[in-house]
Amino acid sequence: MTDSAQVVTQRIEMLAQISEEEGKLTRTFGSPAMRRANELVGSWMREAGMAVRSDAIGNLIGQYPAALPDGKILLLGSHLDTVRDAGKFDGPLGVLVAIACVQHLHDAQRRLPFAIEVIGFADEEGVRFQSTYLGSRVLAGTFNSTDLKRTDAQGITLAEAIREFGGNPDGIASAKLDAGRLLGYLEVHIEQGPVLEEKKLAVGVVSAIAGQTRVRIGIKGQAGHAGTVPMRQRRDALCAAAEFVLAVESLAQNRGGLVATVGELTALPGASNVIPGEAQLTLDLRHPDDVVRKRAGAELEARGNEIAAERGVTAAWELAQEAAAVVCNRQLTLLLEHTAKRHQKEAPLLASGAGHDAAAMSAICPVAMLFVRCQNGISHHPAESATEADVRVALAVMKDFILELAKSG
Ligand code: GLV
Ligand code: MN
Ligand code: MN
Repeated sequence: MTDSAQVVTQRIEMLAQISEEEGKLTRTFGSPAMRRANELVGSWMREAGMAVRSDAIGNLIGQYPAALPDGKILLLGSHLDTVRDAGKFDGPLGVLVAIACVQHLHDAQRRLPFAIEVIGFADEEGVRFQSTYLGSRVLAGTFNSTDLKRTDAQGITLAEAIREFGGNPDGIASAKLDAGRLLGYLEVHIEQGPVLEEKKLAVGVVSAIAGQTRVRIGIKGQAGHAGTVPMRQRRDALCAAAEFVLAVESLAQNRGGLVATVGELTALPGASNVIPGEAQLTLDLRHPDDVVRKRAGAELEARGNEIAAERGVTAAWELAQEAAAVVCNRQLTLLLEHTAKRHQKEAPLLASGAGHDAAAMSAICPVAMLFVRCQNGISHHPAESATEADVRVALAVMKDFILELAKSG
């Protein structure tokens, strides 16, 4: 007989086939692939006894009722969008483990003193609009309505993309959940790093989520003929960008715990015989301490301006988004540690360098997270993998956690 862990891993494979790019997994906010993923996950929610709805931005929400109508709500979930050429587990694992836990209650015809809502967040990665946690910010009531004017690479605004997806930009403010009814939010996620593998443990408990800054930088110089403009007369925007990229690396290497990444770099107009007149790049900065992250951001902005001045180009710095570091709720985390220790010899506490919807949800309710061991620590890559055996442990911990929470009232 197929057990729940097998079902979860089979469903992860099925979701990995739902992509907007041939031969690789890419599912960005509001895409037809996202719609198909929501339909499929919605059908699994219904099978598990949940009533399914979609909110104003397109978060998919399944509700399993409480024993009594006015019970509080425990939120479980993760995101269904992905990065480009993604791994299969980042996001879907948390949604599918949550559905499997509810399926277990439904099969036993068991209702708890609280309702469970499973959420498949519409946009955690921020790939299309360069802003993370769009889905969870809507439910937490921290969505910034000016974000509706953001545009994607095709010039489509977020408001248009939401409408196209069947959502309602005007309904976003009222989509906020009622904090008074929430017991908390619990998210299972692949670790995306090597710590649990080193410790030879299936799962670990998250202590905190690092804060992050994302910046868009536009460098403008002078385009020109690659064959005729002497080197000393050039104002090459890409060379300035290259010097800046190395300055980013060097600053992060010399500041404990700071990670900094230039993940996108475009040279314009983009021809082998034209000096780049313009370069556009992104910067992603993270640290568990917000003060250290903000100071590093200010230093890099100043360094970018210096490089620009030395090279006779201009640099425009645009803060695309910022999220503060978040400490997970102590009570829920202790309960998670306690239940994890029933299934393995220890329950290590891990800080997360990756961002998670739990960070946004912490604005409205207590949050906790369970990490699952990640093969070779590889993530945001097709080789990302977790074993069925480890998924089984995560499921057992989550089921126990939910039942313990029900017992403790
Ligand atoms: C999301 O995965 C992030 O941390 O960027
Ligand atoms: Mn994720
Ligand atoms: Mn991710």
